[in-house]
Amino acid sequence: MNIPKLKNKDLVTVSDLSRDEIMAIFRLTARLKADARRGKHHDFLYRKSLAMIFEKSSTRTRVSFETGVTHLGGHALFLDGNDIQLRRGETIVDTAKVLSRYVDGIMIRTFSHDNVVKFARSATVPVINGLSDEHHPCQALADFFTIYEREKKFRGIHLAYIGDGNNVANSLIQCAAILGINISIACPKQYEPDSFIVDNARAEAARSGSSLVITRDPEAAVKNAHYIYTDVWISMGEEKKAAAKKKALAKYKITRELLAKGRADSRVMHCLPAHRDEEIEGAVLDSGRSIVFDEAENRLHVQKAIMCALMKK
Ligand code: CP
Repeated sequence: MNIPKLKNKDLVTVSDLSRDEIMAIFRLTARLKADARRGKHHDFLYRKSLAMIFEKSSTRTRVSFETGVTHLGGHALFLDGNDIQLRRGETIVDTAKVLSRYVDGIMIRTFSHDNVVKFARSATVPVINGLSDEHHPCQALADFFTIYEREKKFRGIHLAYIGDGNNVANSLIQCAAILGINISIACPKQYEPDSFIVDNARAEAARSGSSLVITRDPEAAVKNAHYIYTDVWISMGEEKKAAAKKKALAKYKITRELLAKGRADSRVMHCLPAHRDEEIEGAVLDSGRSIVFDEAENRLHVQKAIMCALMKK
C-alpha cells in the first residue's frame, strides 16, 4: 500500500497540504476503508502512540482517532485538558516538548488556533489539529473524501454552505479551493468566514479553476449545488452569543422548502453534532438526501490515512 510522504510535519490547516497530497491521502483512505469493511487491518503504526488532548467536548473526533490508531496497531492516550498540567499553567511549549519524548504524534482540540500553531512549532512529533476556533481540517478532508467517493471527480461539483461562517466553513473553503470545487457560502455579513482565509482561497481557486462566492441569499447558493452543507450556529465556547446568532441566522436554515429551490438530486451534509430543527430540519437530516453518517464514518478512514502519512516512519 502506498503511504504518501507529506512535505509538512503537521496538519494544522488544510493549507498544509497540496492537491497531490490530498489526493494521495484519499487513495490511501479508500484502500483502508475497503479493507476495514472486510475486517482487514494493517499494522502501519505498530506500537506507536498518539496523545489526544481535548480542551473541548467531542464524540466523533475522540472515538474515530482512538479507534483509528487501534486499527493501525498503535495506542491512543486520551488527555482531558482539565486533568493535565496545561490547566495549571505549564506552557504549551514545555507540554509539547515533554509529550514528544513519549509519543509519536499529538492530536489537539482546543480553543485558540494559536495554541495549535504553538504546539506544532514546539513538538518534534507530528501535530494534528482536531479542531480549533478557526479550523477543522480533519472534518473538511472527510467531507471531501465523502464527495469524492460518490462523484469520482471534483471538477464541476458545487458545494453550498449555509449558515455560520465558522471553523468548519473556513476549512471547507480552503479545501474546495485546493481541490477545484465550486463553493458558495450563504451567511449574514457579521458571520462571514475569516477574510484572510477567504482572500487566500480566492487566489487558490483562481489557480485551480474553481469559484468561491459569498452571498446573503441561501436560495441563490443552493440553486445549482450538488451538496448543501450546514453546521451548528453556536460553536463550542460561544454560548453567550447564542441569542444574537440565532436571530441573525434564522433565514439560513436548511429546510425542505430551501432544498426545493435547488437541484432535485442534491445531497445534504452536516459535520454533526446537529441541533435538530435549529440550523437544519430534523426531517431533512433523516431523509434519503442526507449523507451525514457517511461523513461521520469517513472521519475514521481519512484520519487513519492522515496518521499513516504523518506518523509512519
Ligand atoms: N464533527 C466533529 O468534530 O464532531 P465531534 O465534536 O463530536 O468530535
